[in-house]
Amino acid sequence: MSSTRTSDATATATSRLTVRELTLAYEDRTVVHELDLAVPDGQVTVIVGPNACGKSTTLRALGRLLKPRGGAVLLDGTELSKIPTRKIAQSIGLLPQTPVAPEAISVSDLVARGRQPHQHWWQQWSQEDERAVTDAMERTDVTALGDRSVDELSGGQRQRVWIAMALAQETDLLLLDEPTTYLDIAHQVEVLDLVRRLTAPAADGTRGRTVVTVLHDLNQAARYADHLVAMKAGRIVAEGHPNDIVTAGLVREVFGLDAVIVPCPVTGSPLVVPGAPWQATPEL
Ligand SMILES: Nc1ncnc2c1ncn2[C@@H]1O[C@H](COP(=O)(O)OP(=O)(O)O)[C@@H](O)[C@H]1O
Ligand SMILES: [Mg+2]
Repeated sequence: MSSTRTSDATATATSRLTVRELTLAYEDRTVVHELDLAVPDGQVTVIVGPNACGKSTTLRALGRLLKPRGGAVLLDGTELSKIPTRKIAQSIGLLPQTPVAPEAISVSDLVARGRQPHQHWWQQWSQEDERAVTDAMERTDVTALGDRSVDELSGGQRQRVWIAMALAQETDLLLLDEPTTYLDIAHQVEVLDLVRRLTAPAADGTRGRTVVTVLHDLNQAARYADHLVAMKAGRIVAEGHPNDIVTAGLVREVFGLDAVIVPCPVTGSPLVVPGAPWQATPEL
């Protein structure tokens, strides 16, 4: 298997979150093998790869929901396992692929749960919490749903509520597992534009947030990633800027798909067009 490591801008970026020889397993089955990764600060890193290649498993380990079998995930140079849970929750927010809501909880109560890492026994709810929740609900277009029960929402509405909860946590690092699942195309673009805005530096030059997201749509990945990580069978096959790594060869190697790569007419980013069209079998 070839490995492409490009020398794009991300190569010089700093990384709070790094992964060293990370091996992840479920019981006796290893699904991620000695992975090395430096997540560039203030950028959007997108992980792509075929079903079951270990994307969600990797993301869970980055958020300390899964303990490494070997190697380590480090935040500011310290192993996650050595950092207090509350401190991690203040630094890293994780939206899993299939989150489960407490029964009959309202939308605004669920989003408010994102504030838990910031609360103290002497102060359960502050103006800062209120502002963060209101802001997150506005950004994800769920303000009007505030009093509704999460159980009764459509898949797309519910997904946006979960994203709001992750945003309300206001962590410097945000890990999102297929955040556009269930969303219609307009809301997909809205969420991905929002992710990009989160990483933009503030007017005073302060670095934006750092996002790592799994996306199943390769074209969206190529359009929104600063740093694209292509995985196959628990290993990184290529990483770098999409313009540098998305080639027909990579798509064939990672997905086993013949494709033609053309520049996107809107952004110029690589657009993957499946290259072997379906044809009707001629009648015999
Ligand atoms: N909780 C689990 N217990 C056992 N095996 C799991 C569990 N979660 C995932 N797996 C297996 O690990 C492999 C990688 O899964 P996952 O990381 O979810 O893949 P992806 O997100 O790339 O589709 C798959 O073979 C999957 O069946
Ligand atoms: Mg997954």
